[in-house]
Formats: sequence, C-alpha cells, structure tokens
Amino acid sequence: MSLSIPHGGALVDRFNENYDISHINKEIELDDFALSDLKLIANGAFSPLTGFLGKEDYESVVDEMRLADGTVWSIPITLPVTEEVAQELIVGNKVKLVANQKVYGVLDLQEVFVPDKLKEAEKVYGTTDLAHPGVKKLFERPNVYVAGSIILVKKIESDRFQEFYLDPTETREKFKSLGWKKVVGFQTRNPVHRAHEYIQKSALEIVDGLFLNPLVGETKSDDIPADVRMESYQVLLDNYYPKNRVFLAVFPAAMRYAGPREAIFHAMVRKNYGCTHFIVGRDHAGVGDYYGTYDAQLIFTNFSEKELGITPLFFEHSFYCKKCENMASTKTCPHSKEDHVILSGTKVREMLKDGVIPPAEFSRKEVVEVLISGLAKKEALLSKN
Ligand code: ADX
Repeated sequence: MSLSIPHGGALVDRFNENYDISHINKEIELDDFALSDLKLIANGAFSPLTGFLGKEDYESVVDEMRLADGTVWSIPITLPVTEEVAQELIVGNKVKLVANQKVYGVLDLQEVFVPDKLKEAEKVYGTTDLAHPGVKKLFERPNVYVAGSIILVKKIESDRFQEFYLDPTETREKFKSLGWKKVVGFQTRNPVHRAHEYIQKSALEIVDGLFLNPLVGETKSDDIPADVRMESYQVLLDNYYPKNRVFLAVFPAAMRYAGPREAIFHAMVRKNYGCTHFIVGRDHAGVGDYYGTYDAQLIFTNFSEKELGITPLFFEHSFYCKKCENMASTKTCPHSKEDHVILSGTKVREMLKDGVIPPAEFSRKEVVEVLISGLAKKEALLSKN
C-alpha cells in the first residue's frame, strides 16, 4: 500500500506564472474566500476541479453531492459576482482575477448563472437560518455565479507562518521522505485539546503518520485566531508527539461550517494531500445545534469505499474520565457523566479570554499558556487601534 491516489486520478496543477495577461481587460475582484478557493484549485488540493463550478456541476453537487460526471464532491466551489460586474463580462473571454490590486489568476469565462441560494442553503447547510455562519456568508456574497477553468498566474504568498504552507505535491513528498505509507489527516479549526490528542493518537496507533492540518482560512470571528492556534500546535507537538510521526501544515481554506457535507469535502481534500485515512469525530465542522453529533459520520454511508478513496476513521465523543483516570469515550468508559470532564468550546473561549486556566484534564498546560498570552496580545493590539 502507498499514499492515496488523488481524487479524480491525478493532481490538478493550474499554476503558470508565464501566462500572458496583457490582452485581458476585464477583471473580477476576489474576496478572501474566493482567493483561497483560487489557490486551492490551482495547487491541486481541490482536484479534480480545474475552476469554479458551472451550472450543471453546481446543481449536481447541490442535489447529489457529486459532480455531473458522478465524482464525489459535496461543497459547491463557486465565484459570486454582483449583477453589475456580470453585465460587463463576455462569455468565452478571459477575465483577470484580482485581489489587493494584484492579478493572481485568470478565469476562462464559460458561464454566468443565477443560483437558487435558498436551495443551496437548505441542501448544503441543512438550514436557511441566517444565524448559521455558513448560510450568512452565502447570502452576504453577491448573487450571480461565474464559472470556468482558472489559471493561477501569481503565487498567493502568506505573510504569516509561510513554512507551513505546502501544496499537495509537497506534502506527498514529505510523507514519502518520512517513510510513511499510511497517513491519517486531522482537520481542526480549534486548539488541540486532550480529546483531539486522544483521537489523533488512537488513530496513530494503526497508521504510520499523523498529518495535522489546521484550517487557517476565513473563520467566524469568535473562533481562536489562526496565528495563536499555530503557536499552540507547535508547543504541543514539541512536548507530546514523536517528531517522526507527525507533520504540521496549514489548510488555507475558508471554513464553511457545513457539518456533514464539509466532512466529505475535508476528506477528499486530505486525500489529495496524500492521506490514506481521515479522522471524523463528533459534530465535525459543525456549529451550534444545526447537526446531530454523528451526522458527519453517517453521511459517509452514501458513498462506496472505492469512490471515496480514503478511509474515514470515526470517533465517539471523547472526554477525560476521573474514575478511569484516562481519556475515554462511551465506547470505553462505563462511568456516568458526573465523572467526565466536558467543556463546551464557548465555555473554554470565555475562560481563556478571562485568563482562567481550564483543567489539565481538558487541555495541556503548555497549550493553555500560549492561548492565554496570544489572546491577551490580540486584545491589547485591538484596544490600541
Ligand atoms: S472542526 O470544525 O474543524 O471539525 P474541531 O477543530 O473542534 O472542529 O474538530 C476537529 C476534529 O476533532 C473533528 O473531526 C471533530 O469531529 C473532532 N472532535 C472535536 N472534539 C471532539 C471530542 N470531544 N470527541 C471526539 N471528536 C472530537
């Protein structure tokens, strides 16, 4: 057995810095969301996509969780523009994709269409409630979708933790150089707490390496900022993980909070990065009470092992049990709730902001220290400005 085969058979590469853009006069301004999608299409993380979805693929993804050719794909990757911008564009022509006055990409415009966003919200997020951060974002963005293949003409460099940005070809090389054949991917938008560590290490017992792949694109404002989290991951790995068994790199995508649908999407992308296995725990990519605790695991039954091409590893809700004196889940612990240390994400964020240290059974002290000082620095900066 070796590393996974990319989704669709081969890694997409849409980067060409020599592409001549001098003859293109129309442009589309990208928001951060679209810019990160552009990057991830171009570097193959979203293979087999070669661009922003056209109407047929879009409708098929919304309705069936598949591209029009049947390939599993659960989240529509679209490029929304305003009606005014759309009116200026000509199908069949190339359009520059611009952010911060720099041209990053070119779109070969093949289609312009108006999506049924209510349906998209209902199908993809399971709700049309505007209090849902993914749905809110969907409706905040403009109402016309433009589609076609893209080319990235300028690398999108990050000004922070640059060394942790790796393309799927690079992560695959890295895994090979570490001698890993079976690699488990871990998605997170949070600091790594004891429950995360427990499921990561349980998975690591049966594979060669752990790919810790935190999402660092756009997240909702009350999530812990990516730079603070990055420091906390490093201190945790330095102190509690064997160096040759774990590799940290960022996933620069925006968070959709689409729960089950996003779990499938996260798994396909990690397959492209080379993972053979992918962890799905409780309420993966969920928010509030929109999804059932294990919906993101159940959704995998819609697809065959072969078409997924990556093995999901499902974990029960994990916690520290005072009677077991260990991390556990209801699968492994016979004791009652009163013996379990369970804190909600919101509660922990409040504690950290107030400088209160959560119990050691919940989070490693080195991690907590980084989080408290990181968040305090952010606060100080905010109050200065
Ligand atoms: S997510 O939005 O990126 O999924 P989070 O960073 O909290 O949020 O979760 C990362 C992964 O760990 C997900 O697969 C999630 O299901 C899992 N997970 C988080 N907390 C627990 C827990 N207490 N028990 C089991 N799995 C968990």
